[in-house]
Amino acid sequence: MLFSGFVKAVDPMGMAHKLSAYFAAWGFSVGSADLLPQVLGLALATLEVALGIYLLLGIRRKLTTRAVFAFMAAMTALTLYIYIANPVTDCGCFGSALELSNGATLLKNIVLLLCAAVLLWREKYLFRLITARNEWITSIYAIAYTILLGLYALHFLPPIDFTAYRVGIDMRSAVLQGLGERRDVRDLGAFFLLDAATGGDVTEAVLGDTGAVFLVTLPALEEADAGCNDRINDLSDACRERGYKLYGVVDVAADSLALTLWNDQTGATYPYLQTDPQTLQAMTRANPGLLLLRDGRVAGKWSNNELPDIEAMRTLPPAPPQPPARGRQAMPVLLWFFVPLALTIAIDRLWIGSKFYKHHQYIKRLFKLNTTMRKKIVAGNWKMNLNLQEGVALAKELNAQLAADKPACDVVICTPFIHLASVAGELTSGVIGLGAENCADKAAGAYTGEVSAAMVKSTGADYVILGHSERRAYYGETAEILKEKINLALANGLKVIFCIGEVLEERESGKQNEVVKAQLEGSLFDLSQAEFANIILAYEPVWAIGTGKTATAEQAQEMHAHIRAVIAGKFGAEAAENVSILYGGSCKPSNAREIFAKPDVDGGLIGGAALKAADFKGIIDAWK
Ligand code: PGA
Repeated sequence: MLFSGFVKAVDPMGMAHKLSAYFAAWGFSVGSADLLPQVLGLALATLEVALGIYLLLGIRRKLTTRAVFAFMAAMTALTLYIYIANPVTDCGCFGSALELSNGATLLKNIVLLLCAAVLLWREKYLFRLITARNEWITSIYAIAYTILLGLYALHFLPPIDFTAYRVGIDMRSAVLQGLGERRDVRDLGAFFLLDAATGGDVTEAVLGDTGAVFLVTLPALEEADAGCNDRINDLSDACRERGYKLYGVVDVAADSLALTLWNDQTGATYPYLQTDPQTLQAMTRANPGLLLLRDGRVAGKWSNNELPDIEAMRTLPPAPPQPPARGRQAMPVLLWFFVPLALTIAIDRLWIGSKFYKHHQYIKRLFKLNTTMRKKIVAGNWKMNLNLQEGVALAKELNAQLAADKPACDVVICTPFIHLASVAGELTSGVIGLGAENCADKAAGAYTGEVSAAMVKSTGADYVILGHSERRAYYGETAEILKEKINLALANGLKVIFCIGEVLEERESGKQNEVVKAQLEGSLFDLSQAEFANIILAYEPVWAIGTGKTATAEQAQEMHAHIRAVIAGKFGAEAAENVSILYGGSCKPSNAREIFAKPDVDGGLIGGAALKAADFKGIIDAWK
């Protein structure tokens, strides 16, 4: 997208020629000198560059992937039509930089459409390179740069010349060596020059001239800029004095009436040559334009807006021995685009870096932004609420809402045991996961009233909450008991949402870090790394549960960073980087966004607000 947008912006006149060829094929007469094709061409270039830069930097991924898909779908439809109806021979997708046959273009668009579909489906594949706070800078810069580049190319000439008539080209060898078959000389296309007065072919005479020949290219006489005629006439007089040739070059279709009219309007006295209209459009991207041939080579090209002052020139510029490499011509254009963007991104990254640093984050995360494996999760904990019918109805309602409006995180609901099997039947896999709120510390046997991990798993559930503060406080669950439960849950293929958190007195006496560390050590530190990969942690300060009193986002972040450091110490940096740590305790739609925005908070474990679909969805949407 960036490439095709760029080449169109570099040569908007070339694009305007293509667009007017389309219009002509559809029966409309819109000349390339008209504003419409020029504005359309530049608008298309700007849209492509904007979409390309949004994709590259991962800005507004949902909107961008949708727009790119829509754009590619439209382009594929258009090229399918072009392939079938064949109104033009080259689509113009890449301006004049790369000409593709209609079949190749269709194939290319189908492949790109498939890529766009993959991105639409998995927009998360896009890597965000700039923070939302600063993305406006890169967007505005890319758009403004493209428009200015296009306007520059329209006013002067394209800064990169994609045509065959580049400064330095030896037209004499290219055309005359191919004599006899010169209409097929690939690079120069259908190049010929006829004397407009006699109709005789003067190609050889003009290209064979060992002096200087100026060609005033006039691709569309009736639309040519008349404002520069005095300068052209002065140039023509000066040429006559100095013994240089100067011709007006017009379309083979231009008749003598049109030429007489032009002479009357402008006072032109120079002789005319005629050539193929497409050749004329390629020779210079201006109307009129000026091309200087020296000894059969292109020595200079100018647009009507920058005609040279020959009086001021003591000697004419010689033709360079070789045309400059297009790569060299492209370099400043690309550098002016990419260097400011790269600087903006670097400054943006450093800004994130210093913020992360302040929060005791590992500097390496600077470069790993978005690459982290850990999941964003919002889990509901219904506790001892809702009868079976109410629970099933809530699950059904949530499932429908989330199936219609895909969440940007994993969603799990943890229900009382008796709900599990029925709720499992209401959930679409991949939309909502199901979990229990507890399981027994024994595998099976005579334990009246208990429910084992294997039974939980058999209902269709994949998660279990263990270590909730209410179970620790009211049912005497110790670190040892929890260790047993965790082992059994993992052995039965359940993922464990393991809760930890301090009570109010512990926080007030500043012991929260110690307490939480001991809870982690007491129940998890005997696990292997592979087992630990199935643990999700939930930090729930007991003083915030069901009290309406939330920990501040800063308190949550501080504790989550501490937990991650404890995990890194035991299971290694990678495991710490990958474990999801949820926050729980009076989490509501109104505070979720702020808490989830913290770098170490990977979601929430929600009690009271999980009992109403609207509230729970509001919290889930905080990830959007
Ligand atoms: P709460 O409960 O959201 O109602 O505070 C959270 C929990 O105990 O998991």
